[in-house]
Amino acid sequence: MTNRNHSLIKQVIYVSTPVGFSDKILDSILIQSQVNNKKNEITGALICRSDLYLQYLEGPAHKIDFVYSKIKLDNRHTDVILLEDGRSKRRLFSNWAMKDDPVKDWMWSKDEVADGAIRQLSEGDAMKIFIQHSREVDQFLS
Ligand SMILES: Cc1cc2nc3c(=O)[nH]c(=O)nc-3n(C[C@H](O)[C@H](O)[C@H](O)COP(=O)(O)O)c2cc1C
Repeated sequence: MTNRNHSLIKQVIYVSTPVGFSDKILDSILIQSQVNNKKNEITGALICRSDLYLQYLEGPAHKIDFVYSKIKLDNRHTDVILLEDGRSKRRLFSNWAMKDDPVKDWMWSKDEVADGAIRQLSEGDAMKIFIQHSREVDQFLS
């Protein structure tokens, strides 16, 4: 019997709280992510600011599982909560080993983040954020 999931990529979204947020820490995370993700055929986006990381990862399921298990243990952030665990035929960020972005105006205020609005996002809403985000990236490129 063929496994229909085999050709699909895995998509993971999580939210976490930065520990010691600074340009230096952010740069180290991004450089490490971009080098590792290229090797692992992983692409995605990291939305970040001092009170929030929101990361979308897509790629081969076993590689996503492995990287996510390392990310969860990383002491540069805490309170890692999985928001989405899905499968897809196509990538949203095929050109980005890890795209980094500040939180955009259309996203949330500091108060909303402090009140836990992002931690309570449903799977569908978390995906919608990155679908919208990937469209903005495409527009920017074209
Ligand atoms: C917010 C955040 C996002 C991260 N994203 C990635 C990522 O996309 N890919 C990755 O390989 N590591 C990522 N890391 C780093 C991992 O936690 C881990 O340090 C790294 O994968 C270890 O790589 P190594 O086994 O090559 O030393 C991230 C860490 C943090 C705190």
